[in-house]
Amino acid sequence: MVIIRTIKRLRQVLSGYNRKGRTIGFVPTMGALHYGHLSLIKACRRENKIVVVSIFVNPTQFGPGEDLKKYPRTLKQDAALCKKEGVDIIFYPDAKEMFPSGYETFVTVEGLSRELCGLFRPGHFRGVATVVAKLFNIVQPDIAYFGQKDAQQAAIVRRMVRDLNMPVKIKVMPTVREIDGLAMSSRNAYLNPLERKDALVLSRSLALAKRLVHDGVKDIAEITGKIREMILRVPKVKIDYIAVVDQEHLMPLKKISGKSLIALAVWIGKTRLIDNIIIK
Ligand code: PAJ
Repeated sequence: MVIIRTIKRLRQVLSGYNRKGRTIGFVPTMGALHYGHLSLIKACRRENKIVVVSIFVNPTQFGPGEDLKKYPRTLKQDAALCKKEGVDIIFYPDAKEMFPSGYETFVTVEGLSRELCGLFRPGHFRGVATVVAKLFNIVQPDIAYFGQKDAQQAAIVRRMVRDLNMPVKIKVMPTVREIDGLAMSSRNAYLNPLERKDALVLSRSLALAKRLVHDGVKDIAEITGKIREMILRVPKVKIDYIAVVDQEHLMPLKKISGKSLIALAVWIGKTRLIDNIIIK
């Protein structure tokens, strides 16, 4: 495994591979790797000849006042995990390498970026789409892996790839959870022990919603009402949104039907967490 910090060097190394019949698989991350990331890396390892993981805390997807500075950075640990999983290349650029002074080109996936988290984090998905587009151009992978945990991000990347004719296949892997149900996230590290317990309300309220649907409840207002009620029983929470949408367009549904995505974003103290489930 090699750790490469420049685009030029990465291109040199990748062009040294004989690509005939050998696919490049790619997992973009911001590091602080956990089992959620590892599930993507494992799938990538199984399905490709060459595995590239990027670790880049992308400044353009953090808003003013967000956690760019305090976002966990654990390269040594991340590199050890990647090595164990059989990663070939870690691409670890710094901010200047990706966004040198004078940089002014951005990718915006218009409608999808305005829904759900987009309403509360203006500019976030523009930063995500831009860095993912750049990384795709740099790595030129055959397949790229994303997590269902960030359902809106996955929908936006799929849309961008289709709209801009990028020759890469997108695979979305299921959300990996802690034993008690909390969706794994690098941001879980911000939670103190009490908040860590309170954070269970995200997955528990989604499980409640699933039971309600299973019991035949189809009315969206009733479902979101029950979720809201459960979440608001926890002190010091703030709900950004609870939404029931279709998975591809993220448009609000009137009734549960076919494949629906129930997604929520909730503040536990000073930490903003997201989670979602797909209801079939
Ligand atoms: P990051 O939060 O590090 O996540 C990297 C990838 O891991 C994303 O595709 C995310 O959906 C996936 N992931 C995170 N937690 C997961 C979990 N519990 N189960 C399954 N997959 C999980 O998402 C980003 O970084 C950035 O926005 C990025 C795409 C790298 C662009 O900067």
